[in-house]
Amino acid sequence: MEKKIFHWGASTSAFQVEGGYGEGGKGVATTDVRKVPEGVADSKFASDHYHHLKEDIHLMKELGITLYRFSFNWTRIMGDGYEENQAGIDFYNQLIDLCLENGILPFPTLYHFEMPQKYIEDFAGWQSRKCVDLFVRYAEVCFRHFGDRVKEWGTINEQLIVSAATDLNGNHEADPDLKMKNMYQMSYHMSLAEKKTMAVFRKIVKDGKIGPICSMQVIYPESPSPKDILAARNAQDFLQNCFLDMSVFGQYPTSYSNYLKNKGLYPEYDEEDIKVLKNNRPDFIGINYYCSTCVRALGEDEDNRQLPPFYRNELFTLGNNPYLTKTKWMEFGIDPEGLYIGMRDIYERYGLPMIVTENGLAYSDKLEDEKVYDHYRIDYLEQHIDQCTRLVTEGYPVLGYCPWSLIDLVSSHQGFKKRYGLIYVDRTDVDVKECRRIPKESYYWYQSRILSEK
Ligand code: BG6
Repeated sequence: MEKKIFHWGASTSAFQVEGGYGEGGKGVATTDVRKVPEGVADSKFASDHYHHLKEDIHLMKELGITLYRFSFNWTRIMGDGYEENQAGIDFYNQLIDLCLENGILPFPTLYHFEMPQKYIEDFAGWQSRKCVDLFVRYAEVCFRHFGDRVKEWGTINEQLIVSAATDLNGNHEADPDLKMKNMYQMSYHMSLAEKKTMAVFRKIVKDGKIGPICSMQVIYPESPSPKDILAARNAQDFLQNCFLDMSVFGQYPTSYSNYLKNKGLYPEYDEEDIKVLKNNRPDFIGINYYCSTCVRALGEDEDNRQLPPFYRNELFTLGNNPYLTKTKWMEFGIDPEGLYIGMRDIYERYGLPMIVTENGLAYSDKLEDEKVYDHYRIDYLEQHIDQCTRLVTEGYPVLGYCPWSLIDLVSSHQGFKKRYGLIYVDRTDVDVKECRRIPKESYYWYQSRILSEK
């Protein structure tokens, strides 16, 4: 029998698409207050999905997707963080019901980068265990309100990024060593919160499935030198295995815990955490993939302080891969085969079904005569989908594929000049206009691809 991908979907996240700043009882999120450079869009209007909900779901139906991967906005559900906000819950009830009425499976992620700013002010956010309890409470609210209709859930989107990006998590400690220690502590608290959430989920959404959404790391050594090979192994442990091993096995890779212990960076924990961490396993792994990463050994006296915190250690540093085509917005290059390599490795290590939750090409698209000819995006998607099909044909369990993104949305750090959508949103960084929706060439291409798979 021919093996097929089960769901053809598409992806967004709340703070990048919704807008609706301060509306319907929404509290203030970290992403609402962070400073963006002059002339770059913030997330207050985003793609104004909050006011275009019906239109956007209609476009999803026309596209033919059977799954919509979105995220709940923590501060729409919990206001400033402490009380349920009925208007926000109503908004998501409407979204979920509209999806279901149109034959689209709603697949939310609980935590996609934004969180209540009040938590940062009250107890330094994830640096405190209080955040663990409040996250579990928020998740429980979501399970109780939506678990009757929503059966597939993502926990944390890209823990690698959210534990490191200070504008998303409020880790503004001035001392660099302490800031680093905070990062590891926050990440530990996120892992613990994820596991406690899974325990609650099993009680409330008995017939549901839940899993982490990882920023898949496909790490290549820059050369066959043993030093670079070791650097690549270290990078794999520090950029991916430390998160997924916790999500699945409830423990860190040995190299990672040894390093943290030797450096005095190992997070504080309670003995009783161990049972929680070991006992609650996910059902699947969500895969976000844009490109592979090339690393090499760090040179003696080489300064790596300008790199993002997760690359700032003496075990590896970024290298260059001359085999990949790079573009302005895809600085690491384009590597479809990396998707195959990475997912195969993830399956070998964890043995869980996988779903591609994000995969896409950034470009400064231009609207010309009411059309966007994004053939570059079609090429990218086609090549990556082919790698998914290859996995499925070989027998790997790939539950679905979701391009990032369904619709243009505000990039995590670079506004609206950098677009990923299948649907163009007519606005610029400085002028929100009407946010008109115009399907791009890639939308029609994906539509016929989905049809041909049926
Ligand atoms: C992923 C995130 O890291 O990459 C998305 O889950 C993000 O939220 C996407 O938008 C692309 O990154 P960026 O920075 O180009 O928006």
